[in-house]
Amino acid sequence: MFRFRKLLLTLFIIGFSYLNAFSQRTEILLDEGWKFSKGSFPNAAMPGFNDSRWETVSVPHDWAISGPFDKEIDKQVNIITQNGEDKPSEKTGRTGALPYIGEGWYRKSLNLPVIKANQKVLLQIDGAMSEPRVYLNGKLVGQWNYGYNYFYIDITNEIKPNNNLLAIHLNNKAKSSRWYPGAGLYRNIHLIIKEENSVDQWGISITTPIVKKEFAKVNIKTKLTGANIRLVTQILDASGKQVAIDTAKSIFGNEADQTIRLSNPNLWSPETPYLYTSVSNVYEGNVLKDVVKTRFGVREISYRAGTGFSLNGEVRKFKGVCLHHDLGPLGSAINTAALRRQLTILKEMGCNAIRSSHNMPSPEQLELCDEMGFMFLAESFDEWAKAKVDNGYHLYFDTDAEKDVVNLVRATKNHPCIVMWSSGNEVPDQFGAEGVKRAKWLQEIFHREDPTRPVTVGMDQVKATMQSGFGALLDVPGLNYRVHLYQEAYNAFPQGFILGSETASTVSSRGIYKFPVVKGIDKQYDDLQTSSYDMEYCSWSNLPDDDFVLQDDKPWVIGEFVWTGFDYLGEPTPYDASWPARSSYFGMSDLAGLPKDRYYLYKSRWNKNEPTLHLLPHWNWAGREGQITPVFVYTSYDSAELFLNGKSLGVRKKDNSTPQNRYRLMWMDVKYEPGTLKVVAFDSNGKAVKEEQVVTAGKPYKVVLTADRKEISADGKDLSYVTVSVVDKNGNPCPTATNALKFDVKGAGKFKAVCNGDATSLESFVKPTMKLFSGKLVVLVQSDKKGGIIELSVNGKSLKSESIKIISK
Ligand code: GAL
Repeated sequence: MFRFRKLLLTLFIIGFSYLNAFSQRTEILLDEGWKFSKGSFPNAAMPGFNDSRWETVSVPHDWAISGPFDKEIDKQVNIITQNGEDKPSEKTGRTGALPYIGEGWYRKSLNLPVIKANQKVLLQIDGAMSEPRVYLNGKLVGQWNYGYNYFYIDITNEIKPNNNLLAIHLNNKAKSSRWYPGAGLYRNIHLIIKEENSVDQWGISITTPIVKKEFAKVNIKTKLTGANIRLVTQILDASGKQVAIDTAKSIFGNEADQTIRLSNPNLWSPETPYLYTSVSNVYEGNVLKDVVKTRFGVREISYRAGTGFSLNGEVRKFKGVCLHHDLGPLGSAINTAALRRQLTILKEMGCNAIRSSHNMPSPEQLELCDEMGFMFLAESFDEWAKAKVDNGYHLYFDTDAEKDVVNLVRATKNHPCIVMWSSGNEVPDQFGAEGVKRAKWLQEIFHREDPTRPVTVGMDQVKATMQSGFGALLDVPGLNYRVHLYQEAYNAFPQGFILGSETASTVSSRGIYKFPVVKGIDKQYDDLQTSSYDMEYCSWSNLPDDDFVLQDDKPWVIGEFVWTGFDYLGEPTPYDASWPARSSYFGMSDLAGLPKDRYYLYKSRWNKNEPTLHLLPHWNWAGREGQITPVFVYTSYDSAELFLNGKSLGVRKKDNSTPQNRYRLMWMDVKYEPGTLKVVAFDSNGKAVKEEQVVTAGKPYKVVLTADRKEISADGKDLSYVTVSVVDKNGNPCPTATNALKFDVKGAGKFKAVCNGDATSLESFVKPTMKLFSGKLVVLVQSDKKGGIIELSVNGKSLKSESIKIISK
């Protein structure tokens, strides 16, 4: 009986999905079974071409991340004017020294369910690096230039029921980027089959023009194709319960305009990321032709002179970070687990906003920001018509900029997380009257496509933009660095507020400390590392504390986006001209996602939910006995006492004498002796409330493994990030260990990648061996589709090995 019921249920499900697939809309992710090769193949678009020797890959895919690193790749002899350089030098790791340049082809055969006469087939590409040319059965059916943008192609007239060949050609020019752009089909590709009479692609715009405690006015504009159709829109709450329903009264010019009342709405905010779903049902007569689900949030944003930015009526500041799109050892290939981990790390720091620098964010990142509660500044370009790099976006600006902005807005506008657009970053067009026109033109395109959000530009040429009118015309004047010009810009610009669109650019290497501890600009060392005392920055930038002063003292500063949340591939400033530096030093966390000390400096200000008490440096300084080894504490408490081997080194209290003294507790004259360094923090009544310590460790003895998630999905994509460290015989972490380790994965998953956060390492991310950097590294383990136990074992010479089990289901 039970079996019979199960069979019926299965038949029902199959029948249902069949109906769903063929009578309404179905979306197929084209993720598996692709053939790939780098190189130029004149006939690769043709069905008869033999690709049997090509690699079989799944998409998202980054063809360059497996390396090898090579100094010659994209070597550039140039002057980086925006970095204030005045003579040329040879730059080696600027774009990551990974083999992204050149042509590449992807091929896939497509067999579709029977397509009925009145159906439409669309192919949507969420981004492809770069210049995708899309061929179907040998014919060019679509193309796009900008590798970061979303676009779709109507392939209804070209597709056959069986044996279609989809081929995509990509081309990456040398000198086309200022950072590692990645290479290949690095984002998702979707096939959408729908009725002709249906909602247009990206045709739904949901806004919440009135938001009150008792009710919200939800406006839904829906672009539709078809005569004699009816649109019924349901609104579901987060649990899936219908809370409102409305039938569009009339459809004018193919657009339905509905105003729906929501009673006692749950508002979206970073703290309460509540999401509703709008379900658009299109009927022809009584036949359901299309169903589209769109998540949205009820929230109100405003930017006003005097009060600055507010969300749902509450004034707040952006505690934001800038992020490049690469995911460290995964390269640019999108992975939801990797993105979620990044956001989890940022959330724990108290970060509430992300800027996608300097291009369109992935749909997955926006979905996660909606769900997890991050405000989003979605940027479009790093160049307009004037060049930063020889083959940058300026080649396409005149022909493509409008359609690139249009697609950015249309594809993403329903995400409640997006609270601002950016039309550009430090564009050289900040100089000259033409640039002012371009700024206005782009801003008006954004306004036309989305009247609800303001537009900014990250400006570094602040003086020029004060004089030319460039800064005055923007909805939100964004300053990149230039802390000394904030007040002047505020006085000069009419908006009545200033955004720190890019701040700090302080550099540090995780676990590396340099002496003496002094402020340093563009400081360089023989080992190509930077100091984690967080006192080193670039000639154009500043220390975090300088931004904190402005954020705290000037109500008209509406927040900051720190450069950057994580290290990224390429741009190894201050070592742009020193091989083998190949990734950045700007992150609060390193390329592996491991927090640097600076992470805790921001956490001490941003995270109001839990106290921060963080002590630095590590305490393994053999050879420095008796030498001055300053100790810093990053804490949300105002004062603390430091003890070395039980002896008090005094109490420090934050004061306003310098920006550093205001935000850090510093013991500058500590003389190193091995042992235990302990800090005790006091609350405002002087009561000791929390303590932390670091201990001088002995020789590495044993491997320790900690997984960010011990249970993952058996979907062939999910990842567990396992942090690998070593401890001495007494269990003390060894902060300077550099042991070479080997990784072995058995069971229901595979070794995916490894990263130690060392910006100078030339070890491959995809081989299961790597040296620890400052005592740590991270191994990425990926599930297969079968499920079961995945076991990672880690061993190294003279070390007690260790293994960890991860459940995949
Ligand atoms: C900014 C720029 C960023 C990055 C940063 C490094 O001027 O907008 O893309 O280059 O400098 O400090």
